[in-house]
Amino acid sequence: MHVVLHAACLLLVAGGAAAAPGTDLHAYWDDRCAACHGDAGPFARATLRVVDGRLAGLHHGTAVDGFLRSHHLAPELHAPVVAMLAAQATTPALYSAHCAGCHGPAAVLVRESLRWDGSQWVSRRRGQALERLLASHGGAPAADVPVLARTLRRVTEEVGLPGGPYAR
Ligand code: HEC
Ligand code: HEC
Repeated sequence: MHVVLHAACLLLVAGGAAAAPGTDLHAYWDDRCAACHGDAGPFARATLRVVDGRLAGLHHGTAVDGFLRSHHLAPELHAPVVAMLAAQATTPALYSAHCAGCHGPAAVLVRESLRWDGSQWVSRRRGQALERLLASHGGAPAADVPVLARTLRRVTEEVGLPGGPYAR
């Protein structure tokens, strides 16, 4: 009961988006959803949209939210996974274009190569702030840096990396 109440509080604070701290939504997807749907990002961009602030599927339209309540998805992860899919569906595939070739999935890079330094997310070894790192590493054009940095910060939350604020 305590756990349920705690989760409900977090959901209110984060507008329905946050999983309990430490929950790794990417690992969950890989374990429970990827066998049928492949990687989450490409699936979301190919199959899902956000219409009037609500997730919409090619097949189910905005009823996809209700569909997911009886489709393989643990109830406590319904809101966080819907939020993750909505974010992926509305974020250009800049990470895939500029980084995945060397680093593989964003979740892997974030788990292994980012850390919270007490006030912001930085690269694990050199301790560089994300915007600074991206300005000199990976070859992304300057115009793409803000979106890339925002994407990586979002993924820190989705993989439940310890330290940072559970907020976008
Ligand atoms: C055993 C295979 C299988 C697994 C596992 C599975 N799905 Fe599905 N999923 C399907 C099929 C088949 C459809 C299309 C049928 C339908 O839309 O009713 C679908 C449809 C969807 C849709 C709707 C797409 C649209 O166009 O409306 C979403 C979103 C979705 N799945 C998410 C998930 C998530 C999240 C998980 C993991 C928790 C998951 N699925 C696990 C087979 C699977
Ligand atoms: C050509 C291959 C390549 C590309 C493309 C690339 N990286 Fe890297 N990246 C590396 C290598 C090799 C390292 C480890 C050596 C180093 O730290 O420079 C690394 C290290 C890192 C680190 C850890 C640095 C640290 O201080 O711990 C981060 C974070 C990172 N890359 C993010 C990115 C992002 C984000 C992108 C896309 C914009 C990207 N990389 C594109 C090869 C690449």
